[in-house]
Amino acid sequence: MILLAGGTGTLGTVLAEHLQDAGLPFRVLTRDSRRAAELRQAGLEAVIGDAGNPADLTRALSGCTAVVSAISGFGPQSGSTPAAVDRDGNINLVTAAERAGARRFVLFSMRGASASHPMELARMKFAAEQRLFRSTLAWTVLRPTTILETYAAIMGESLRRGGVAVVFGRGDRPVNFVAARDLAAAAVFALDDGLKGQAVDLGGPDNLTLNGLAALLVERNGSGRTAHVPLPVLRTAAAGARLFSPRWGRVLGGAVHLAAADMSFDAAPGRAKLPGLPFTHVQTALAAAA
Ligand SMILES: NC(=O)c1ccc[n+]([C@@H]2O[C@H](COP(=O)([O-])OP(=O)(O)OC[C@H]3O[C@@H](n4cnc5c(N)ncnc54)[C@H](OP(=O)(O)O)[C@@H]3O)[C@@H](O)[C@H]2O)c1
Repeated sequence: MILLAGGTGTLGTVLAEHLQDAGLPFRVLTRDSRRAAELRQAGLEAVIGDAGNPADLTRALSGCTAVVSAISGFGPQSGSTPAAVDRDGNINLVTAAERAGARRFVLFSMRGASASHPMELARMKFAAEQRLFRSTLAWTVLRPTTILETYAAIMGESLRRGGVAVVFGRGDRPVNFVAARDLAAAAVFALDDGLKGQAVDLGGPDNLTLNGLAALLVERNGSGRTAHVPLPVLRTAAAGARLFSPRWGRVLGGAVHLAAADMSFDAAPGRAKLPGLPFTHVQTALAAAA
């Protein structure tokens, strides 16, 4: 039995489909009783619990030999923080997995995770990685670039609501986008003992500007336009939001990072470690999501 923590998220939902297709038994951990009921109605196993609560994890891990963690406290919907979820939640999961006698642990971190990264999220992911490296478990760390579906959903939502695809900054810097299905396939490969003891950056074949992504989404939508939030405005908004809402300060800070940092990545060389696994172009993933 595999415990899938984060199985209700953008990536986790796709991952659950892949585990089902692979015929692997799994149970989804969620804090949300409504989502748990929906999963059960769909014939899946779900356990209600919080990664911040070790007793919940002991219960959730009963009979499990493996854990996949795709949890995050970064998003505005999470109601939590990267420190509580991406660091402490993952550390709790590793400790609980050791106690439960599990063997395998696959952790979704992020590309660039380090102790000195400007984003708190990346520092928290790094701390979780360090705990996993010291564990008794057979581990794999998967470090995605930018998940395509996350940003397609953000831009797609503003396009549907107001006919405008919102682009952070000038939108002219290349960003590497990876499709959720590629990440899910890599996790299933890892559960089959691929990539054991390895931490791997995972990107997609395309480095696309945010303007390029917005243009694709406008085209797919059949109408709409692109609007830019200038970087200085974004920076001011992030600084202001930090005073009143740490959550929005964090999210806007992430938008600043996306707009200003070098987010490009050459994913091709690392693909040799993932023989036969999908390497999905942005256009293909968007078409499949329609
Ligand atoms: N999105 C990106 O561009 C990106 C880039 C690099 C790495 N990643 C990493 O990839 C993974 C998947 O990202 P995503 O965007 O799919 O995440 P997401 O949509 O934001 O989903 C977050 C998940 O975390 C779970 N969660 C949050 N707090 C929890 C807690 N205290 N206890 C248990 N579960 C908790 C949520 O479950 P419930 O709400 O149901 O409890 C949800 O399933 C994450 O680890 C993320 O950090 C994402």
